[in-house]
Amino acid sequence: MSSDPSHRQGINTRLAHAGNDPREFHGFVNPPVVHASTVLFRNAATLAARDQKYTYGTRGTPTSDALAKAVNELEGSAGTIIVPSGLAAVTVPLLAFLSAGDHVLIVDSIYNPTRRFADTMLARLGVEVDYYRPEVGADIPSLMKPNTKVVFTEAPGSNTFEMQDIPAIAAAAKKAGAVVMMDNTWATPLYFRPLDHGVDISIHASTKYPAGHSDVLLGTVSANTDHWEQLWETYLTLGACAAPDDVYQVLRGLRTMGVRLERHQKSAIEIARWLEGLPGISQVLHPALESHPGHAIWKRDFSGASGIFSAVLDGGGKAQAHAFLDALEIFGLGYSWGGYESLAVPVFLGDRTVARGDYAGPVIRLQIGLEDVDDLKADIERGLAAAARAG
Ligand SMILES: Cc1ncc(COP(=O)(O)O)c(C=O)c1O
Repeated sequence: MSSDPSHRQGINTRLAHAGNDPREFHGFVNPPVVHASTVLFRNAATLAARDQKYTYGTRGTPTSDALAKAVNELEGSAGTIIVPSGLAAVTVPLLAFLSAGDHVLIVDSIYNPTRRFADTMLARLGVEVDYYRPEVGADIPSLMKPNTKVVFTEAPGSNTFEMQDIPAIAAAAKKAGAVVMMDNTWATPLYFRPLDHGVDISIHASTKYPAGHSDVLLGTVSANTDHWEQLWETYLTLGACAAPDDVYQVLRGLRTMGVRLERHQKSAIEIARWLEGLPGISQVLHPALESHPGHAIWKRDFSGASGIFSAVLDGGGKAQAHAFLDALEIFGLGYSWGGYESLAVPVFLGDRTVARGDYAGPVIRLQIGLEDVDDLKADIERGLAAAARAG
């Protein structure tokens, strides 16, 4: 039998115990929250050689090690850095692997602040940026140039949830010499493990499902063996370490993430299916629905779905979208997702270049929280009635 527990235990067992060994800290079930800059050395020789496990707060603590170890186990990665936000989990690896004169290919259905970082800071640093269709698959080499160093993926895409054929993209892009990165926040490592599908760097906004309570910002970046050292060196060079209380909160969140996700998934699929048949809705953008153009890829590669998707209103514009949103009593109007509470936002697609989509009406993104489904349906019905009145 394998000595690696990930090969023999169920996911909730692993989530409950991954990261720290209580016997290493007096038997306390949870690891200590170490607030640290300075770490003392035993003597001058040890200091000169930096010959001890911990040397300075930016380089890791027992708290950050516990979370990194847990994430490594979930992702199957060689190493994980922990950064102060999900956005930093995007920007740090891009800075780690791109230099002036390089070219990066980014999926057009990308989380908008990733685009902003690429179009502003990467461009200023002399990196060429191009966007590609999420459906590109094995054709990615036709868009690559001799200087393409990174292919950045996100699946499903932000707001419109296009799927990507990650194994095909990863295989083709790596053959052509690029590092493949994936923002895997939507699936979490429970429902998709990017490194198992050829991706080199897996990115998460732990702010979402790992934290789970809309009260923490954090990101993790996990690398395979070939890319770990460069990622770690960049992380140390940038000083992008996260605060210990936030790191601890995310490890705490992981313990219940499996059961929370089961509920998010079940409620979101139930609501998405119900919405598909409702008057006032033209389309539901959820990859677990058979009607979704990326459904076959989702079914082939992913083992589950999280709780965020979009619904397209059947006609109308800003007035109908605002009427829908303003009539909601349980869904809050606000950004982010992955918390226990339901949220709704209007989707802006004006930044897209090659993946614009042709939607019959306003697109509304719904994050389905842990509330009771019947209450959420009643809330959505209130919104749809208000949108119809505004029409
Ligand atoms: C897909 C995706 N990646 C990254 C982020 C950034 O996470 P954070 O809000 O922690 O910066 C978000 C936030 O909404 C996101 O949706």
